[in-house]
Amino acid sequence: MSDYKIILRDGKGKTTTKKTVAIIGAGMVGQAVARVLGQLGHDVRLANSRGKKHVSYVASAWGATPVDVSEAANGADIVILAIPYPIRDEVLTTLQAAPGTIIVDPTNYWEPRDGEALQPKPGEATTWSVAKRWPSLRFVKTLNLLFFELLKELARPDLPDAERTAIPIAADDADAKRAVARLLREIGFAAVDCGPLSTSNCMSHGSSLFSYCMDLGKAPDVPTAFEHLKKNGISGKLALDEVS
Ligand SMILES: NC(=O)c1ccc[n+]([C@@H]2O[C@H](COP(=O)([O-])OP(=O)(O)OC[C@H]3O[C@@H](n4cnc5c(N)ncnc54)[C@H](OP(=O)(O)O)[C@@H]3O)[C@@H](O)[C@H]2O)c1
Repeated sequence: MSDYKIILRDGKGKTTTKKTVAIIGAGMVGQAVARVLGQLGHDVRLANSRGKKHVSYVASAWGATPVDVSEAANGADIVILAIPYPIRDEVLTTLQAAPGTIIVDPTNYWEPRDGEALQPKPGEATTWSVAKRWPSLRFVKTLNLLFFELLKELARPDLPDAERTAIPIAADDADAKRAVARLLREIGFAAVDCGPLSTSNCMSHGSSLFSYCMDLGKAPDVPTAFEHLKKNGISGKLALDEVS
């Protein structure tokens, strides 16, 4: 893992450590995340399907380092899969990430695009099922509900968490969830806790939160996110407390 000691400021004026974040996928989500994390001073790597030579132009636009997928996870603190849903396993195979690596999954299954054959079983959360196939990695489901342009538009690091736009987050590993929630806080959002991966259907396709975001083209504030989670029997709480 990264041993950088450069100290940054998070959205609440607290200090935080520079992270190495590898983003696989340099499309809409990958570039939006690269941009905001680069601006915060994190060490960002960017990879696409065509190799480092072809991703170097977009990477340089956001101050990121172009990499091949096969080298992207080496020494990275966090890897973000900003890629199409059907190729998660293929990319994870190429990545060869070290045990314990935090893998952020913002992908959504959508039948017209991804095909009926890959349809999740009823009730099965998509990140939970990939995490079962990669038990040495620490998966975090988040960022799947936010339209990529809103990552820049709705960031409010100046506000307390409870008054920010909410980004739902789910993970089995508490430290991994906290590390990613801290990044979201630095960017200017409030991570809302959706529990473990097994209950992350509350933020997946078909959930009321998903419909709220996609049908209305919106992102929820914290009380609205809590209201939607209540419909899934999940009591609303923030992933970080005020002092974490
Ligand atoms: N767009 C949104 O606002 C949004 C919001 C929330 C969640 N999501 C989800 O986030 C994911 C990414 O969405 P997006 O809109 O950013 O998609 P996108 O613009 O189509 O970008 C996909 C990226 O994945 C790369 N890729 C494809 N196959 C790859 C491989 N084998 N190895 C490495 N990289 C590969 C592509 O590389 P090339 O350029 O080389 O083809 C491209 O850079 C999707 O699962 C989507 O459902 C999207």
